[in-house]
Amino acid sequence: MAIVEHGEHQLPPTPDFYEYPWTPIESVSVDGRFVVVRWADGVELEAFDWWLLENVVDRGFDLATREQLIDPAALTNDVAVESAVVVDDGALQVTFTGSTPATFHPGWLRHVADDQHLAQSWLPEPTSWTPATFTEPPTHDGSVVLDDDATFGAWLDDLVRYGIARLRGCPTDEGFNAVLAGKIGAVRDTNFGPFWDVKADVEMAGSADTNSTANTNLRLGPHTDLPTRETPPGFQFLHCVVNEAGGGFSTMADGAAVVDALREQHPEHYEALTTLNWVFFNRGPGIDHRWSGPFIDHGVANAPLTLRAFYPVRAFPDMAPADQPRAYEAMRCFSQMADSARFKIAYPFKPGDLVGFDNRRILHGRDAFESGGRRHLRGMYIDQDEIRSTGRVINRRLANQI
Ligand SMILES: [Fe+2]
Repeated sequence: MAIVEHGEHQLPPTPDFYEYPWTPIESVSVDGRFVVVRWADGVELEAFDWWLLENVVDRGFDLATREQLIDPAALTNDVAVESAVVVDDGALQVTFTGSTPATFHPGWLRHVADDQHLAQSWLPEPTSWTPATFTEPPTHDGSVVLDDDATFGAWLDDLVRYGIARLRGCPTDEGFNAVLAGKIGAVRDTNFGPFWDVKADVEMAGSADTNSTANTNLRLGPHTDLPTRETPPGFQFLHCVVNEAGGGFSTMADGAAVVDALREQHPEHYEALTTLNWVFFNRGPGIDHRWSGPFIDHGVANAPLTLRAFYPVRAFPDMAPADQPRAYEAMRCFSQMADSARFKIAYPFKPGDLVGFDNRRILHGRDAFESGGRRHLRGMYIDQDEIRSTGRVINRRLANQI
């Protein structure tokens, strides 16, 4: 372990690999089973005794892995806080029954008091958008994204904030998705393979060997991919390698904005779409993927929105017959809203464009092609976890450089 000094004192180790600014504690007291820590600006943290114990080096967490060591079954009421004092220019020192005193880094405690330990921290707030916000995806420089953290971080931030962000000026070689994924995290493999092609040309249209409506010259209505899975892929990336075709604009609508409008203007449809389930079914040769869930799935608190909106694979109502008329009415209303100028943007793909979007939030589609020519997009999926983890790492790194 690297020894880092604060003044004359060695910094107390923290249960992670980050560095924290020294934010001295002003006072501390014990209130029942809580140690109450206070800073000069009035911020307080109530720290439960067992939680503090879990964060004592070598006793509560392992210095090599920074992972916790105490099985909850081993928690004992025989260990209590005997004393809590401020030492070493502002650190917290706690003595537990039968132990030598343990010292806690005040900056690490402060980051908990400031909620920077929560899942949503170090990432932007999701912000819904309409064509009044922008008519093309927020765009960043793809020619420098591999080497420039500020560009990379800004693009990841927009992916989280708006659910869509474009890189323009990327290389047009077919391996670029893999190179970019190498900076982000694991690619989500599916029955389409880790990297897949969306090819549209005159020869391909109507071809029997295509495994997706995407590989035709037909219009594709607003949808989300793979609602047939328990957890549909988090983000989708489409890299334009070739585009010689006319028309075939990409369409995008922010499902979060559509859901908000539906809840406000058509509460009965919102209720139907959040409570009535459908069976989504991928019936490809040799596979039998199916999942039942609502069209609008809010999941647990703070989970990303999941829309299950792909009519090619929405196979059966999973509800009482009496509910089916209102379920269809609600779905029609939602889909018409998503397909309207109030919510939908349409823009062309240029070779070297790479558009990333939240596959569970953003409704994507394609206008019909107007003239012949090849268009070749290379696609991949990467789950929410990877985007968010990498976004936090980059944002923490950038913040520490300031
Ligand atoms: Fe799609």
